[in-house]
Amino acid sequence: MLEGKNVVLGVCGSIAAYKSALLVRLLVKAGANVQVVMTPDATNFITPLTLSTLSKNPVFSEYFTPETGEWNNHVELGLWADVLIIAPASANTLAKMANGLVDNLLTAVYLSAKCPVYFAPAMDLDMWKHPSTTANIETLHTFGNIMIAPGTGELASGLYGEGRMAEPEEIMAFLTADIKNKLPLVGKKVLVTAGPTYEAIDPVRFIGNHSSGKMGFAIADELARLGADVILISGPSAQVSKQRSVKRIDVTTAAEMLKACQQNYTDANVCVMSAAVADYAPVTIAPQKIKKQDGGLTIETKKTTDILKFLGDNKQADQLLVGFALETNNEEQNAIDKLKKKNLDFIVLNSLSDAGAGFKTDTNKITIIDRDLQTTTFALKSKEDVAKDICQRIVTLLIK
Ligand code: CTP
Repeated sequence: MLEGKNVVLGVCGSIAAYKSALLVRLLVKAGANVQVVMTPDATNFITPLTLSTLSKNPVFSEYFTPETGEWNNHVELGLWADVLIIAPASANTLAKMANGLVDNLLTAVYLSAKCPVYFAPAMDLDMWKHPSTTANIETLHTFGNIMIAPGTGELASGLYGEGRMAEPEEIMAFLTADIKNKLPLVGKKVLVTAGPTYEAIDPVRFIGNHSSGKMGFAIADELARLGADVILISGPSAQVSKQRSVKRIDVTTAAEMLKACQQNYTDANVCVMSAAVADYAPVTIAPQKIKKQDGGLTIETKKTTDILKFLGDNKQADQLLVGFALETNNEEQNAIDKLKKKNLDFIVLNSLSDAGAGFKTDTNKITIIDRDLQTTTFALKSKEDVAKDICQRIVTLLIK
């Protein structure tokens, strides 16, 4: 959930600041880009050097870094953040946050941030129980800020009670679950096919195509980023999923891809078939390498099953089916014919005549045609950005 996310971790003056070191480590391990902002008081509890070493970024606690004379722009930091976590959040900082007081870099970043804000209070039990703390927390809830509640235990004062900051592992579990629950595709199962298929002629040769799998892998990653449970059925491809949650099933032939789709199709909410499946396979596979002979070589082939058409024929009313059409001529009409014939919700058309589109490139140019034959043409973009456009359309159709 935190992979590639920009996280600002605010650390306040509290003995619990020692736990921030572990929290930074866990955030970095989860793939987040972590920027620590400390209140000046927090630097008395844990050194900026510890947190900058762990976060691999300089730590900010003042508006200016005296050594470099650089201004630590709170607005930029606030806008850079995908998530702002204040842990430990002291009673003092909570009061400032609730009342819009800005007397240090962290409170300025807080006021500038547009992203979700989480705070993990840490204080002594009487401070925690004080009506003013309760009122401040209620105010923060009305701002949409999310509290990661403190636990009960022995406190720095030696007293026993509520006010102990949640453990870093608990903060991480809360954060990831909360972020995941808010994603638009959480709870949705999605099937994606990618790459080419190889149809063996003999032990060393095959019928294949130039598909690299890049587009399908980018789609699978984006769907996972949006919270879906993704099963990626891939033909031979050197691509690697960036999202660890993507479950990959490797296949070689069209028949194997069909079988894997059949096994996973029934409870899938969405299927995106971006694989370049071979339309024909040799009738027989020679058991030994075919030796060169005089004259030509004729290989008898048979049609493979059209996986997308099979899924379209068996589609349930609440399933969403997306297909691709790679065309070289009469593009739109061919794509519309495929959309209708295969019972799709929308088809993604790419034309090999567009420069920068199609196989092996890192870019693609697509047109989306939906059931009402509404056509949207997109600019040439990276395959990751094209995947975002396709997945956004899926989200829109599912939410409808
Ligand atoms: N497809 C499939 N199974 C096949 C062939 C194609 O699932 N055996 C899917 C592809 O994954 C793609 C769509 O069908 O989503 C269109 O593939 P394409 O090769 O463009 O079209 P075909 O239907 O095979 O038609 P043609 O080759 O005649 O253009």
